[in-house]
Amino acid sequence: MAVLISGRGSNLQSLIDAAKAPDYPAQIALVVSNKENAAGLDVARRAGIPARVIPHGNFESREAFDRAIDAALRDARIDLVAEAGFMRIHSDWFAKTWEGKALNIHPSLLPLFPGIRVHQQALDAGVTESGCTVHFIVAELDSGPTIAQAAVPVLPGDTAETLAARILVEEHKLYPAALKLVAEGKVKLENGRAVFA
Ligand code: GAR
Repeated sequence: MAVLISGRGSNLQSLIDAAKAPDYPAQIALVVSNKENAAGLDVARRAGIPARVIPHGNFESREAFDRAIDAALRDARIDLVAEAGFMRIHSDWFAKTWEGKALNIHPSLLPLFPGIRVHQQALDAGVTESGCTVHFIVAELDSGPTIAQAAVPVLPGDTAETLAARILVEEHKLYPAALKLVAEGKVKLENGRAVFA
């Protein structure tokens, strides 16, 4: 599989750690970042995983950028794509091409609070719990059939930072577990829904 990142790479690290288990059904063969200064590139290098930078600014359209990512994925013979803090919206073409084979993690209980400033959105809405969602990628941002979710409480006095940190702990457990299900064929995208075997 490949992991697509734009930043820190803590979810990438959790996937690298999970894939070390002898029975883990996927291996990370490539990391792609759209940002050349993403800290996650060092995470990949430390783990000896090939990493490529494909700056979105070099392309005239969303689809042209996505076609360059697709070419890198095909070069590395990738079967499954995990987006982990990859902050670009995909073209319809990419979503269709990788339908059922591309996953994303988002730090809210979708369909609540897609987009950015997610934790502040949750605090402003006054919800008593938030969490994270792993979903199949579709053309719309932060939506698509849910594979797995984990919830955490929103506590009095929480700031966006404290809530983010509580959710991140769950992200690091949820993403490897959800990817395992997909890699083992135990969950599939069928007719726009995540179907469990
Ligand atoms: C994570 O919290 C991830 O859920 C979020 O970005 C962070 C990346 O952290 N993704 C999104 O908001 C996607 N819409 P990381 O680089 O340390 O994994």
